[in-house]
Amino acid sequence: MLKKYADKDYYYIVNNILNNNEFRKIDNCSHHGISRLEHCVRVSYYSYLITKYLGLDYEKTARAALLHDFFIGDNSSKLKSFFNHSKIALENSDNLFILSDKERDIINTHMFPVNINKIPKYMESWVVSFVDKASCIYEGSLTVSRCFKFKLQNAMVISIFLIGRFL
Ligand SMILES: [Fe+2]
Ligand SMILES: [Fe+2]
Repeated sequence: MLKKYADKDYYYIVNNILNNNEFRKIDNCSHHGISRLEHCVRVSYYSYLITKYLGLDYEKTARAALLHDFFIGDNSSKLKSFFNHSKIALENSDNLFILSDKERDIINTHMFPVNINKIPKYMESWVVSFVDKASCIYEGSLTVSRCFKFKLQNAMVISIFLIGRFL
């Protein structure tokens, strides 16, 4: 995560969220075999880079992507929270921060197409949804590679193969 924090522009945009004590509680939650905070920072940072490159609203994207899985508890074993957690993340985010309509949409629709009922309204929401899925696959591959003592390169090869299957 250090590389992402070292990007001063990125850190300037998200630092008030990152340093919020309530938000930082997600660092203690397990998510795809890593900390939920680490997952959220990964999704936020790569969504920020992509939207910046595309000339989209990268500031709102970075903030909302960081908040997209802002909920406490383990979602891996509970099917209900798997489908509901975007709503909970939005409620938690609304309680602590002032969000724009676009930021709210990014958080609320990030589970598309797993949750087919919430379709992204903005390009930024589509980007975050895609980066979230790619990160899930990458993080899942890392966990598998750890289990079987593969090397990091193998996790990346598995990720690229799986992402390619979905495109
Ligand atoms: Fe999520
Ligand atoms: Fe996520």
